[in-house]
Amino acid sequence: CGDRIALTPPMGWNSWNCFGHEVSAEKVKKAAEAMVKSGLINYGWTYINIDDSWQHHRDPNDPTRGGKLRDEQGYIIPNAQFPDMKGLTDYIHSLGLKTGIYSSPGPWTCGGCAGSFGYEKQDAEQYARWGIDYLKYDWCSYGGVLDRNLDTDPYSVSSLAFQGGGDSLVGRKPFKIMGDYLRQQPRDIVYNLCQYGMGDVWKWGDSVGGQSWRTTNDITDTWESVKNIALSQDRSAAWSKPGNWNDPDMLVLGIVGWGNPHQTKLKPDEQYLHFSLWSLFSAPLLIGCDLEKLDDFTFNLLTNNEVIAIDQDPLGKQATCVYQIGELRIYVKELADGGKAVGFCNFDREKADISFHEFDKLGITGTQTVRDLWRQKDIKTLDTRQESLSLHVPAHGVLLYKFKPAHK
Ligand code: GLA
Repeated sequence: CGDRIALTPPMGWNSWNCFGHEVSAEKVKKAAEAMVKSGLINYGWTYINIDDSWQHHRDPNDPTRGGKLRDEQGYIIPNAQFPDMKGLTDYIHSLGLKTGIYSSPGPWTCGGCAGSFGYEKQDAEQYARWGIDYLKYDWCSYGGVLDRNLDTDPYSVSSLAFQGGGDSLVGRKPFKIMGDYLRQQPRDIVYNLCQYGMGDVWKWGDSVGGQSWRTTNDITDTWESVKNIALSQDRSAAWSKPGNWNDPDMLVLGIVGWGNPHQTKLKPDEQYLHFSLWSLFSAPLLIGCDLEKLDDFTFNLLTNNEVIAIDQDPLGKQATCVYQIGELRIYVKELADGGKAVGFCNFDREKADISFHEFDKLGITGTQTVRDLWRQKDIKTLDTRQESLSLHVPAHGVLLYKFKPAHK
């Protein structure tokens, strides 16, 4: 295992949710500086990831991104918003952080900028030269490539075959090509496969060199989006392990909403639930908000080291919902120290007040210490055979507890 990377889920920031296509080197630099100045860096937040629109746009007349896509050797030329990519990554590294970048296996990214199709080797080399540490590789226009190559590409059974079951070679191939080139580079580059969970990517993502893979469509900052994504995560849970992470997309906390920046539409209890679930899921934690406008509430959410420790637990297991009482779903995650993180997650619009005693349903037995992780407080030593726990879970809220066998 000596060469394995991302042994715990990557933590950092991504430009998409707050800047969208208006991203620039200046804004990325400011985000990196804010990561340090705010103190987030001290809690494990590390990656500064540039998403779509650092490349030139396919429309040469695009006012901010029009221009020559690649040089004579096929190396990509960043757009005018990113005049010195190497300088930018050097600067980010000098702050003690790492840099991520974004591309597509298709000819165009989802935002219509230059993708990697046909230039995978040059792109992987260029990323390494710039000092890139993380690549998000986004399916986007690759479906069109499949349509064009039906007769000539031996892997292309048909693009429909992909849609019906993207674990076919057709779906894996473009990710494998880039994965192989990345591994040939003289630096570790975390590889995130972004293809929205098609074809059970969690079953084959590792075989094409991925460290993490999106399991869903894009998140938005609404309760429905967070809920729907959360409820679809159990099916991929068994594939989570050190170096292989299911990615339910970025965190929608703080000031998000590019083009129309606003405080996330999630209510405070929904934000606790969102962050708790992503930690229980061992998800890559990528902050999507404008770090320069970090408010105290969001900062406190992002800096509870006991909650972060659940996400970063070295065992790398992913919680699943093991028991349900109405809309109160109970997620359990096994931890490396023999304890269990338990999320009492209330998906109901009403608060839940219950006296809970069915610990055997959670795989929890004997005498246990119970700690409230958000409040960082021991609650009690509990004899699970005889006692019950009185739980008051807010509507769309959570209690995140850690159970650990008590020492005699
Ligand atoms: C897709 C991805 C998003 C973001 C955009 C950029 O929608 O899923 O996370 O990267 O593309 O265009």
